[in-house]
Amino acid sequence: MRVTTSDIRKMKADGKRFSALTAYDAITARLLDEAGVPLLLVGDSLGMVVLGYENTIPVTLADILHHTRAVVRGTQRALVVADMPFMTYHRSLEQALENAGRCIQEGGAHAVKLEGGRTMAATIERLTSIGVPVLGHIGLTPQSVHQLGGFKVQGKTLDAARRLLDDAAAVEAAGAFGIVLECIPAEVARLITERLSIPTIGIGAGAGCDAQIQVSSDILGWLPDFTPKHTRPYAHLAAEAADAFRRFQEDVVAGNFPTEKESFSISSEVLAQLQKESAS
Ligand code: KIV
Repeated sequence: MRVTTSDIRKMKADGKRFSALTAYDAITARLLDEAGVPLLLVGDSLGMVVLGYENTIPVTLADILHHTRAVVRGTQRALVVADMPFMTYHRSLEQALENAGRCIQEGGAHAVKLEGGRTMAATIERLTSIGVPVLGHIGLTPQSVHQLGGFKVQGKTLDAARRLLDDAAAVEAAGAFGIVLECIPAEVARLITERLSIPTIGIGAGAGCDAQIQVSSDILGWLPDFTPKHTRPYAHLAAEAADAFRRFQEDVVAGNFPTEKESFSISSEVLAQLQKESAS
């Protein structure tokens, strides 16, 4: 049975911590599903960790739909949340409705995520009122990277922390089933978590959140150049992959690949006949 947004809410009510991870393709999604991760986010981090962009802003709805379909195909149990890209829900409630609808209908997602606090409350309210479950996202909201002046920790001053508390309350009141808290001080995240009845899903927000989310590529050590402070590499796939690619290239050049083991053959009778024909 698929995990539902009610199951996610209930985990907080029951005091059960849970994990969430990003996924962008069917094979990874299947591994995550089999590992028992209940919530998979097709994050617009896709732009940075798969598509090679500097930030998430160039990611399009078509990108998210394409990868969401793959993730849904790879899963049987996890709740799949599609991240709504920059400018696909900001212009009007109608635009948000139409594009969230596409994530659900065409992408097969079970919920959508959008960035923003009080300014997005009306959008969240509209979507949830017509049956589209929404995951909120406040703190470091990467789609506002130019406004924020970079990927910086948010909510460090009294005023900024107060604003985060108000944003979180607004997202909950608007009907979101959960909220991502990205890169905010652990003390502020703990306060928000205590005040809300929906689960807080932290990334760089300390241990006081109800759940933790990470970008899968980060915990796999898949990005050779950068490991964010808030992550922990559970594997070193970039180093392993680089080694595999180098050895393959060397084997081909040296004539060590392929061997008979990696080749296909025909029977000696067929070969003899073929040689005879090609000689004549
Ligand atoms: O796009 C993403 O991967 C995200 C997570 C960092 C929460 O928004």
